[in-house]
Amino acid sequence: MLAIASCVSMMAEDGSRLWLRYDKLQKAQVNGPECIAAEELRNYYPGDKATLVLDPSISNEEGYIINGSTIKAKTERGLMYGAYALLRGEQGASEPFFKIRVLNHWDNLDGSIERGYAGRSIFWDLDGNNPKAIDPALIKEYARANASIGINGTVLNNVNASPKMLSAPYIKKVKEIAAILRPYGIKVYLSVNFASPMALGKLKTADPLNSKVKAWWKAKAKEIYKEIPDFGGFLVKANSEGQPGPGDYKRTHAQGANMLAEAVKPFGGIIMWRSFVYGANHKGEDRVKQAVSEFKEDDGKFMDNVILQSKNGPLDFQPREPYAPIFDNMRKTPQMVELQITQEYLGHSRHLVYLAPMWREFFGLVSPKRLVGVAGVANIGLDKNWCGHHFAQANWYAFGRLAWNPYLKSEEIAEEWIRGTFDSGQLTVDSYDYPSNNSTVESNHNYHLSTIHSKLLSMMLRSREACVDYMMPLGLHHIFAFDHHYGPEPDGFIASYPLEWCPVYYHKADKEGVGFNRSHTGTDATSQYNEPYCSLYDDINTCPERYLLWFHHVPWTYRLKSGNTLWEEIQARYDRGVKEVEDFYAIWQEAKPNIDEQRWKEVDERMQHQLENAKEWRKVCTDYFRTFAE
Ligand code: GCU
Repeated sequence: MLAIASCVSMMAEDGSRLWLRYDKLQKAQVNGPECIAAEELRNYYPGDKATLVLDPSISNEEGYIINGSTIKAKTERGLMYGAYALLRGEQGASEPFFKIRVLNHWDNLDGSIERGYAGRSIFWDLDGNNPKAIDPALIKEYARANASIGINGTVLNNVNASPKMLSAPYIKKVKEIAAILRPYGIKVYLSVNFASPMALGKLKTADPLNSKVKAWWKAKAKEIYKEIPDFGGFLVKANSEGQPGPGDYKRTHAQGANMLAEAVKPFGGIIMWRSFVYGANHKGEDRVKQAVSEFKEDDGKFMDNVILQSKNGPLDFQPREPYAPIFDNMRKTPQMVELQITQEYLGHSRHLVYLAPMWREFFGLVSPKRLVGVAGVANIGLDKNWCGHHFAQANWYAFGRLAWNPYLKSEEIAEEWIRGTFDSGQLTVDSYDYPSNNSTVESNHNYHLSTIHSKLLSMMLRSREACVDYMMPLGLHHIFAFDHHYGPEPDGFIASYPLEWCPVYYHKADKEGVGFNRSHTGTDATSQYNEPYCSLYDDINTCPERYLLWFHHVPWTYRLKSGNTLWEEIQARYDRGVKEVEDFYAIWQEAKPNIDEQRWKEVDERMQHQLENAKEWRKVCTDYFRTFAE
């Protein structure tokens, strides 16, 4: 049995140590190569002795085998991942499922963060007109936190990228950041603005087939790799929401992506090209269909170091979406999924919503085997606790753990996180129960949570479904307040805005019913899915109720499985969502004696907001839909 050192620390706790709240023991004698793994075990391993072995017979560069207190790996990176796993109490062999496990920071060079709710950027700010110096100690803590959960890459700036990012003073800063991240196995990548050759290089065009443009990018790549030899590559948002791209010159996405791919290829770099595109070439088409319409023709035409990066759903990070059909349509193109850790549409850093169940739902529909990587839009900022909400740390944690192993259960991940975050996290060595062979143990299910921690676990596991209930039950979507996306605005319509930004476009409520008909009698978005999902979603009788109003315009009097009419069920779901949050709040009150004062208070304040906001969602949405339904 694993047991936890029973000292629940009641000292002041600001959350800055994340899930790595081990006491510095400096007890273990560590044999083997001097590396991060050795440093971590020396500091935190509770046993007297640990052994690190570099073993060339292990095939995976990042994998490890733990047997007792001995870790074997092919590389020091593998030893490092093994060390963090040992500190979590793991035994056995493990290797990452995805090769590419990156965070995407939507950080602007002026220090602000697009959709960031945890303070300003940890990387960027201005000092007059120049980039402000970095805080090396902070970046090191960031590196360590990421390494502890297996993240091996990071895109340092917003996808809505400033061309300045590629100017010399900024490249110099990227080099400094890369030097701190490198020992932790983390590569840096940059988002680039497709029109950089014009803005920075004073060229008259950014046409990807123009020879001067090609030469400019090649020279830029060379300049970057000279400073940062292991630079990862570029992330590109092109011809989307006003960003420049190859479409400006009547070139395809493949032509644009390949031009950049050629520039970084000699150095081993990759291009992550985003498919989040709408309102350009296929303007007027149902927005959720546009990515497939735009990219399908390009399948098979990308160079082999281009990866298509798509959001999990076809719209935009709603609390629940069906999977994006682009994953069914690009057969020859390597793909990665973009998940959003920052809670743009899930109550920002005010609501407690544990996102692992949402991501697991995606992996249940789109097999991880079809993907080469995962990207997570980070929720990290300069706030003392990194993520704004203490429980939002769990989403950073869960993203990393799922990127390592997408088959881990939400529950196992949450248990690990609770243990690290609200216990000392430390295991007592004499209570380790070493398996006698190298069985693959990915988690510590022989670890027991205390009663109160079990309640926190239950709250986390229920929180995403609760959020769906009080924001957008039964497949309603995008009924969020304009621009900031916090709170409801189901009647939202602004004539000067693109229609696809207006809530009324998405729910289509009228006297007959509500919902977006995307079946073959509507926009036929269902036809973009492979079977069995195409037929399943197309037929109102087989469409899962969780997606009902996503795919169908449904009469208010339609009977659901519960026996309720649609209108009754909508109200019942809003009620259920609010009740769940009331219950979470009660759990948090009960947990008070077991949680240190500062974190308890900070979470408590946010939970009060969440409850208020859940009630507001219920009131505003039911009042509004009632005007049609009754
Ligand atoms: C959403 C989000 C934007 C972001 C965009 C993207 O629309 O609101 O802030 O830039 O997605 O992913 O490119």
